[in-house]
Amino acid sequence: MAERRINLIDSPELGRVTATEPNEDNGGLPAGLPMPRDPRLFDRDHPRVRVTRHGPDRYPFPVPNGWFIVATSAELRPGDVRALHYFDRDLVLYRTEDGQPRLLDAHCTHLGAHLAVGGRVEGACIRCPFHGWAFDGADGRCTDIPYGDVKRIPPRAHTRAYPTLERNHMIWAWYHAEGGEPFYDVPVVPEFDDPEWSDIEVRDFEVAVSAQDMAENNVDFAHFRYVHGTEGIPEDEFFTDGCYKRAVGGGGTFVREGFGLGLGVLRVKGYVTFLSSTTPIDAGSVHVRWIFTSPLSAGEGTVQQAADAFMAGVSQDIPIWENKVYRDPPVVTRAEKLILEHRRWSRQFYSGLDDGGPDVAPEA
Ligand code: FES
Ligand SMILES: [Fe+2]
Repeated sequence: MAERRINLIDSPELGRVTATEPNEDNGGLPAGLPMPRDPRLFDRDHPRVRVTRHGPDRYPFPVPNGWFIVATSAELRPGDVRALHYFDRDLVLYRTEDGQPRLLDAHCTHLGAHLAVGGRVEGACIRCPFHGWAFDGADGRCTDIPYGDVKRIPPRAHTRAYPTLERNHMIWAWYHAEGGEPFYDVPVVPEFDDPEWSDIEVRDFEVAVSAQDMAENNVDFAHFRYVHGTEGIPEDEFFTDGCYKRAVGGGGTFVREGFGLGLGVLRVKGYVTFLSSTTPIDAGSVHVRWIFTSPLSAGEGTVQQAADAFMAGVSQDIPIWENKVYRDPPVVTRAEKLILEHRRWSRQFYSGLDDGGPDVAPEA
């Protein structure tokens, strides 16, 4: 049996972290406590451990309603058209000639062509490649049927458009299962445009887990020791108000704010600020984007080092997340009541759930 190597890393910002090498002597499964830090998990071609077969009913809730990043600003120039799959839907994202990002259902209301496969931007609209119908992404209206002497565009020709906005160097879309209006806003992170702060560092990855499960990690204190090999950062405060939540730790060194489900801003004083968006691909998987910046006073390379540290950390969570099931209700200890509180808070972001949510008390 190969000897298991354990390294202790002292990080002034994150505390003492135990790191293990991947253990190859476990039938191909990772050996944990703590889990291996394995940056290879972010290579698209690197196999991940998937021993649980999840069915379509893995979670008792659908895709959440909210603001989610659908692209970085830099990757969409005027006239660009992109095919996306988020919110369990095929979508088309384009940028108008005057610079507005627009998101529509992908398939044309006429005979169903995918607008990103040959579709072209014309002014504010996108024109379908199949028969040339044009759609305005601001509201989804069909604005032109360019043949057949059409007197009046039938209302059913209009398609679904999603509200978009551009903020923090990212393009955001509002998803609501029932087409409801935005009920909270995307915060501005002033550090991203502050000359005293570094250029942004963007990292992204996909994980087969729900946005809610991923967010639950932050209030799951016991896992920090067992999965990450750190004591975690004791929190002095956990506060929720409507769609907003905030946790403060380490005497104010560490502040994490949440805006809706899957949109968070974490600040570690003097070290890093990062924004996290967890865009649902479907009810059981997400595309995560993390946008980091560090104060220039923290020294060159700090932002990359911080991004690497958080990526290494989440690589420990990924095999757990991708193979866990959602226990509803869970058995938890009294020390874990924040997990229940977080689940109750999360329910406001789903359409179609019946009641006020799980009302269970900690048992153990
Ligand atoms: S399918 Fe789009 S115009 Fe006919
Ligand atoms: Fe974690």
